[in-house]
Amino acid sequence: MAMSRWQNVDSAFTATPDEAAFWAGRTFDDFLFRPQKTESQTRRTISVKSLLTADIALDLPIVSSNMDSVTGADMARAMAMHGGIGVVHRGMSIERQASEVAVVKRSQSAVIDSPLCLPMGTSIRQARRFARQHGITGILIETASGSNVLAGLLSNRDTPVHDDAAEDRVVDDFMTPLSRLVTGAPDISTDEAERLMFEHRIERLPLIDGANRIQGLITRRDINLNRKQPGASKDSAGHLRCAAAVGARGDYLERAAALLEAGADLLFVDIAHGHSVIMERAVAGLRGQFGNVPLVCGNIATSAGARFMRDIGADAIKVGVGPGCGCRTRLETAAGVPQLQAIREAYLAVGDKVPIVADGGVKTDKDIFLALICGASTVMLGSALSGTDEAPGHVIQDPATHMKKKLYRGMTSPEAVMEALYDSGSSEERDAALEIPPEGQEIQVPYRGSVSTILQRIRGHLQSSVSYGGETTLAAVREKVLPDPTAFLVPLSAAARIESYER
Ligand code: XMP
Repeated sequence: MAMSRWQNVDSAFTATPDEAAFWAGRTFDDFLFRPQKTESQTRRTISVKSLLTADIALDLPIVSSNMDSVTGADMARAMAMHGGIGVVHRGMSIERQASEVAVVKRSQSAVIDSPLCLPMGTSIRQARRFARQHGITGILIETASGSNVLAGLLSNRDTPVHDDAAEDRVVDDFMTPLSRLVTGAPDISTDEAERLMFEHRIERLPLIDGANRIQGLITRRDINLNRKQPGASKDSAGHLRCAAAVGARGDYLERAAALLEAGADLLFVDIAHGHSVIMERAVAGLRGQFGNVPLVCGNIATSAGARFMRDIGADAIKVGVGPGCGCRTRLETAAGVPQLQAIREAYLAVGDKVPIVADGGVKTDKDIFLALICGASTVMLGSALSGTDEAPGHVIQDPATHMKKKLYRGMTSPEAVMEALYDSGSSEERDAALEIPPEGQEIQVPYRGSVSTILQRIRGHLQSSVSYGGETTLAAVREKVLPDPTAFLVPLSAAARIESYER
């Protein structure tokens, strides 16, 4: 049988001319899924686990975009707690990005191995700034800088509010000293730690050895969160997983080193046109310096682009050129492939060998399911997670309507480019950036409260989709549908689209 231009000689997956015609020009709103008979009694226990890379599985196959209006430490933490993962954006200085990653890595695990400390003699002003910067509410105080010997604990409840005079006093005056602190041994069990904290009505339990050297910290909040979120994305040491973005030029190796040092679990090598020599050199540079660190590379939108990424050694391939609602690439350059077609092309090219992250264009939850059964293993969301408390940026109120909103913007919008350069660039870099026409835009999105509600809704809808797929796990639906989604998808007429989506 004649094979199409999408044929991939290295893969068992090939597209026939009929298949090629089926996918050409198609995206999410072009299809419905044909409901399948189900044996399932309840949707709540349905697993939607999927692979981000061959070695990293996510309980919820959702990744938050590396955009400055979507993912900083707060979003990355929330994503990991719900079983997804966040990619901390790179539109800031190396130091700031690394410290955002460090906040996530330190934020939730039964035992914090290297708790943050300040020495005695630190002013309250400095301690407050330190706590804000690292997103913590309690600081261990050591006897002297670097001694690692516990002197006391300063919690935010210990420091006086609205008292300017106190700002210049030292932490020693307000902390609970070691003599009055309840502490645990370094190898204390979580149950015993919890019992101690309950008995003494305390929130934090410093762990010290016989010489009072700090060996860890357990917080009640972390224990509770661990219990509530059994599917949280964690590394082998029990810390929340966090990804971070790097570019492919300039200081990208230095940035990668700082991010890995801060604990990043994997790097997203993210450039607009990933099917490029620049990407190839960048991956070689990263491999040369950091060996097998997992690399998710993008973006591409074609089968040739996917094969290229596989061949240069990407651990996952990010697919999507221009579908995002902050993107103007297609409008300004004509470059792009409709997103569902791009996902399918990529999958036909690399099969299950390299997982695909479908990036951009998701407007409703059904799009996530369609992406997953047509080839993606995980789905990256930008606008769908924006406008939430966890997304960076302030809530603004429209003076006319009193509606609360937040800003969402493409990373190549003039606003995002300028802000990134104010944080880390020189004035020459700023001038040069202004000369490049933007391929992104800034929009206002409604304020939507906590991202937890959105992630729970997405999980619920995915579970329902799996049930309509006649299976009890996402993995099983993908296994059934992926070889030939054309047998499961119903192409829509204009009338059917109105019947389906217009409400
Ligand atoms: P959604 O649709 O989820 O898309 O909001 C998020 C994805 O959009 C991409 N992105 C951009 N694309 N110009 C572009 O062409 C930009 O300025 C831009 N900023 C972000 C990115 O892949 C993100 O994950």
